[in-house]
Amino acid sequence: TTYWSKAVYTFEVQFIELRLSRPALGVAGGAASGKTPVCDLIIEQLHDQRVVLVNQDSFYYNLTAEELTKVHEYNFDHPDAFNTEQLLRAMEKLKHGQAVDIPKYDFKSYKNDVFPARRVNPSDVIILEGILIFHDPRVRDLMSMKIFVDTDADVRLARRIRRDTVQKGRDINTVLDQYSKFVKPAFDDFILPTKKYADVIIPRGGDNHVAIDLIVQHIRTKLGQHDLCKIYPNLYVIHSTFQV
Ligand code: C5P
Repeated sequence: TTYWSKAVYTFEVQFIELRLSRPALGVAGGAASGKTPVCDLIIEQLHDQRVVLVNQDSFYYNLTAEELTKVHEYNFDHPDAFNTEQLLRAMEKLKHGQAVDIPKYDFKSYKNDVFPARRVNPSDVIILEGILIFHDPRVRDLMSMKIFVDTDADVRLARRIRRDTVQKGRDINTVLDQYSKFVKPAFDDFILPTKKYADVIIPRGGDNHVAIDLIVQHIRTKLGQHDLCKIYPNLYVIHSTFQV
C-alpha cells in the first residue's frame, strides 16, 4: 500500500500544481526590441483564452523630489530602478488565481500614482513583459516559459529615438545621452546576460511569425493539460487532508 499511495500522491500533487498555478510566460529583451508586438501577437492568437499582460514598467519606483531635479542622472535601466518585491507579490497572486491592482506608470511625471491602478482579474495565461524580468531568480522561477526577444542594437536604438522623441516628446540629444550613459551599458551588464535563461530566443521580434506560432502551440498544449485537472474535482479534498 505504501508504494501505491506514494504513486497516487505524486500523481495528485502534480495535478493540483497544474490546477492551482496558471502558466506564466516571460518576455524579456532590450528596450525597443519588439517585446510588445510579440506579446500582442501571442494574445491575438490566444483570443479564445483569458490572457493578462503585466509590464515590468508598472513597477518602476517613484522618483523622489531630489531625483526629479536631476532626472538625467537617473538610471532607469538598472535592476534597482524596479520594485521587484511588489512585482513578485503581484505575479504570485495572479499565478494562484487572485485579482491584483497593477500600478500604471507615467513616463512624463516619472510616477506610478498619477493614474489609477488597473484591477487585473485572474486569467488562464499570464504574460510578464520587461527588460529585466529574468534578472531576479525569484521572478524568473515563476515563469513556465521564458522568451528573449533578440534584436540588433542599431534597430533598437533607431526605434528608441523615434519612440522617445515622438511619443514621449523628449529631445534627441537627451535620448542619445541617456542611451550611451545608461541604456547601452545596462543592456550589456544586466539584460544580455539573462539571455542564457531563455527557453526560446526570438530573432527579429514581432516579425517572426513562425516563432510566435510555435510558442502559441506550446501554450495550448499546456492549457490542455491544465483542463485535465477538471476531471478530478476531488483533488482539493485530498490536498487539504495532506495539509492538515
Ligand atoms: O518598454 P521598454 O521595455 O522599452 O521600457 C524600458 C525603457 O524605458 C528603459 O530602457 C528605460 O531607459 C526607459 N525609461 C525611460 N524613462 C522612464 C522610465 C523608463 O526612458 N521614466
